[in-house]
Amino acid sequence: MSELHQPVLLAPVLEALRIREDGIYIDGTFGRGGHSAALLGRLGKGGRLLVFEKDPLAVEFATHHFGEESRLTMHHGSFTDLAGVVSGLGWHAKVDGILFDLGVSSPQLDDARRGFSFQKDGPLDMRMNPDSGTSAAEWLAQAPEQEIANVLWRYGEERFSRRIARAIVRRREQSPLTTTGELAALIRSAMPGRDSHKHPATRSFQAIRIFINRELEDLEAVLPMAVEALAPGGRLAVISFHSLEDRLVKRFIRDQHRGPQLPPDLPIVPKAYAPRLQPVGKPVRATGDETAENPRARSAILRIAERPT
Ligand SMILES: C[S@@+](CC[C@H](N)C(=O)[O-])C[C@H]1O[C@@H](n2cnc3c(N)ncnc32)[C@H](O)[C@@H]1O
Repeated sequence: MSELHQPVLLAPVLEALRIREDGIYIDGTFGRGGHSAALLGRLGKGGRLLVFEKDPLAVEFATHHFGEESRLTMHHGSFTDLAGVVSGLGWHAKVDGILFDLGVSSPQLDDARRGFSFQKDGPLDMRMNPDSGTSAAEWLAQAPEQEIANVLWRYGEERFSRRIARAIVRRREQSPLTTTGELAALIRSAMPGRDSHKHPATRSFQAIRIFINRELEDLEAVLPMAVEALAPGGRLAVISFHSLEDRLVKRFIRDQHRGPQLPPDLPIVPKAYAPRLQPVGKPVRATGDETAENPRARSAILRIAERPT
């Protein structure tokens, strides 16, 4: 199994987080610790790094490679536990920088046994934490046709969502879908034409993965917790890999900046209505050099915002 995950947009992330040697930082998506290792490299003895990861294999990797690192605290669980963990540590409104590098990691995609890949045959699972929740195979075995079609449309923007959902339901009446190869072949056969640039199952696999792991719901839940955790002047950095995620992050930052709409003639703006986030610079994309070296970086987009002082 590949253990490598090249951190995406590493230099701009480090710049965005303006790391202070004795600061407190959070990496919400540890993965193989690419960003975390670089963060630790810039922290001094007094610095602290709290990381979240829900994949047991990634946590095992962290124990093995970072087990001796006393400045690092690992929370094995979803980043949606952030508010509770931060308040348990007494870090409410004290955190200097928070990073989310969303989605799945290269080791998760590359390991056929995890069931994320339509290019490699494996069990149809797709859970980042295979010890909890419903696998893709279990969901596809019982979900109503309309629900499958909605998921493919909503999270994959798949034009042929209804056709594919119908094909899945017909097929499962004969025998259950249990492998990624079976699902990929079924999707291919249900599609009328060929898109020469993409495997026909790309959108559907993305959609099912996002749904199974509640990726958008979790992102929506954690962003307000991150704002509350930040110290004045603290920075939030979020790397998204598809437009649904990025739209959510962009709107969140915009709304936190605008605050609730007040009558324009109000003489003094009450403190509760002051902007809670200030966007920093423009969204950052990978350079040609980075995408040549790491194709995963092609779709990455980094947004940065600051908690006003
Ligand atoms: C793109 S990878 C991060 C890679 C990491 N930045 C690195 O450089 O190695 C995303 C990681 O976040 C984890 N993850 C995704 N959603 C999560 C959530 N809600 N809570 C905790 N971990 C999550 C995934 O299991 C995956 O390992």
